Parts: sequence; C-alpha cells; structure tokens
Amino acid sequence: MSSTFNRRKFLQTSAVAGAAMLWSPKLHASQLPDALSAEIGKSKWDLDSPALLLDLDKLEFNLKAVSAPLAGTRVGVRPHVKTHKCPAIAKMQIDAGAVGVCAAKLSESEVMLENGISNVLMTGVNVTKPKIIKAMEIRKKYPGFIQAVDNPQNAQDLQDAAKAAGIIADVVVDIDVIKRSGVPAGEPALALAQLVDKLPNLRFRGILAYDGGVQHVKGFKARKTRAFKTFEPVVESYELIKSSGLNLEIFSGGGTGTYDMMHEIPGFTDGQVGSYVFMDCQYLEIGGAKNEDRFDDFEASLTVLTTIINANYPNRLVTDSGAKSFTLNKPTGWVVGEPDFLYNAGSDEYGTISFENANKTYRVGDKLEVIVPHCDPVVNLYDFMYGIRNEKVESILPILARGKSQ
Ligand SMILES: Cc1ncc(COP(=O)(O)O)c(C=O)c1O
Repeated sequence: MSSTFNRRKFLQTSAVAGAAMLWSPKLHASQLPDALSAEIGKSKWDLDSPALLLDLDKLEFNLKAVSAPLAGTRVGVRPHVKTHKCPAIAKMQIDAGAVGVCAAKLSESEVMLENGISNVLMTGVNVTKPKIIKAMEIRKKYPGFIQAVDNPQNAQDLQDAAKAAGIIADVVVDIDVIKRSGVPAGEPALALAQLVDKLPNLRFRGILAYDGGVQHVKGFKARKTRAFKTFEPVVESYELIKSSGLNLEIFSGGGTGTYDMMHEIPGFTDGQVGSYVFMDCQYLEIGGAKNEDRFDDFEASLTVLTTIINANYPNRLVTDSGAKSFTLNKPTGWVVGEPDFLYNAGSDEYGTISFENANKTYRVGDKLEVIVPHCDPVVNLYDFMYGIRNEKVESILPILARGKSQ
C-alpha cells in the first residue's frame, strides 16, 4: 500500500467529510497527519498505549439518542464542546440536528469557529481586557459567536470594546444557580438584561443557567425533583424578562443528567449536553429514567487503551496508564469485561489493578480498555482520539482545542 494511498484513504475516512480542513495550522503537533496515516485500518489491539479510543458506533448511537426524548417538543440540543474539544465531533453534532454548540472558553470557541462550526455560544464570561478585545475580534469575523455576561460592569466593558471594534455583539445573560457564575436571579437578572438591551453595541439574545449541582444526583426522580426546584428562581427570572418585553430567543442550560427533563421547563429552548457523547464512570452510576441502577440511555464510547507492563505478583497487574492518562478523578476507571478489577490511577505513569477474580490469565504486553472516570479532563490530556469501528481504526479525530483553557 503506497503512502499516497494511505494518506488519501486517511483523509477520506477521517471523521467528517472535508476533514482535511481540520488539519489546520492550529493543529497541536504538525507531524500528526503523516505519522498517523499508517494507523488507519489497524486492529485497535495493535495500537500503542496509552491511547484514547472512540467507538464510532456508540458515538453515533449517542448523537441520536440525546434528541429522542425531545422529539415533538420545542426544545433542541446545543452540545457543550468542552467535553470533546474536537471540531470533527462538533460537526457530527450539528449534522445530527444540534442548534449550535456551547464552548467554555474563548480559545476553545475560536478553534471551533476557525474549523467550520459557525454557531458557538460561549458559556463562560470574558473579564480580562485582552480577552474582551479578542472576543470582539472573533465576533467581527464570525457573526455566529455569542458570549455570556453576568455583571453590569462587564456589560459596559463589552459595550466599549464592541463599539471600538465597530460591531454589535450578541450577548446572553448568565443566571446563577450554583453560586459559581451568573447574576443572581430575579430583579438583578432583569436589570442586567435591560442594561444589555439598552447598550447600543450589544444585542440581547436571551439567558442561560447551568445547574451543575444536580447533574450527578443519583436516581431519575430525585434528580428531576431537585432540578425543577433549583430552577424555580431561573424560571421566575425568565418570566420577568419576558414580560418586560425583551427579545428572549435563547433560554439555554442543563446537561447530560437532565437532558430528558428540561423540556418541561417553561420557555426553555435548548440543553447544553456535554458528556452524553462519551459517557464516563461518574455518569454511568447515576441511573436513568429506564434503569435506576445504571444511566444506560447513552453508551460508553470513550476508553483508554492500556498495556500491562508488570504481572509479577498474584492478584495484581501494573499498567502504563496512571494519572497522566486518566486524571485523578473519582471513581477510578472501569476495566471493560473485568468487573472485579479495581483500577488505581494514582501514580503519574502507572496504573495498578488489584483483583480477586479475572476472566483470563494476563501477561506482560496484554492490553485492556478502561472506561474513564470523568471524560472532559481526560480528553484534554490527548492530542487525538482513534475512531474505532469493528475493532479497527477508521479515523483519527484531532483534539484541536486540547489545552485551550484561556
Ligand atoms: C455551563 C455548562 N453547561 C453544560 C455543561 C455540560 O455538562 P454535562 O457534561 O454534564 O452534560 C457543563 C459541564 O461542566 C457546563 O459547565
């Protein structure tokens, strides 16, 4: 097989049509395409490790499943790219019907916009001067960029920068739910929305509110009760702003844990689901509407491939994947097919597995797949994911916004 063919096949089979554009100058490691084209078609078990694997059948299942309970409602999905940081996956989400995407940071938003994702709502605020100036430059270039604001001084700063850039910038007001970001609900939220509406270089587009505390509450009923309770002040703010006559075309919020509940919230327009694309141990444990024990509405599509490097002791295996491959999040990863294995990723470069029962005898060099504890920070540790179908590498998905934390 000639290298030309490899490269052509690689580009054809990369995650999305027109994937060549994703190998932009923004790519982290410029050698990546050539070095990786030879991996296409390999068995996943022949890949070196640690490596991030993405099961494409499971991913595609998740992309559809998230919209199923919303069919026939007015509510859409606006997936949060903080989870995958990968424009190729954002493109798949748009193709699956998303109304746009959310991004957490300005640099993350920029990577998406530069790589063909035209509708990006940044859920974090920009408060430093360089960021505010940059945000306006981005908005000037990309009309689909919307940014959040949660205090009057910041609204004024955005106004001044938008004026200096000669643009009218699109803004949503973030309403506080978990005392992390956002303006307090009620009158302060209304006053901020009215201020944004009045400022000549800002365009008020609506509100967002993220209830991070409720997403991992165990049990569907308990989660729903708490989600609706904590959202009451946000709904009141929505009613206040709406009855004041402002344009409220966006009312965005929620996450994977509440994806099938928020359409019952008055005025809500779209869910900011993130983790559903990959799933992780934290989410699998919370239970869903159909299964109280396991949240199996979505498939665990993301795993870390790891190699056993030491099997010298009974009931103990050591792997090449520690905290630098998994982060230190809890619970520690779950080994696929070995429910009795306890994976400890506490050492930087080593994972330690302890067990009483194993399905086979493992030797040095054997490989294992491990479901990750918390998907978002794990993805941020890798340059790319291997897209796997039928156990073989079908595509390479560069994580172009990896490390884009500003
Ligand atoms: C503002 C905001 N919206 C949405 C999400 C997505 O949440 P999840 O991954 O639980 O779907 C997050 C995750 O942290 C977030 O911070």
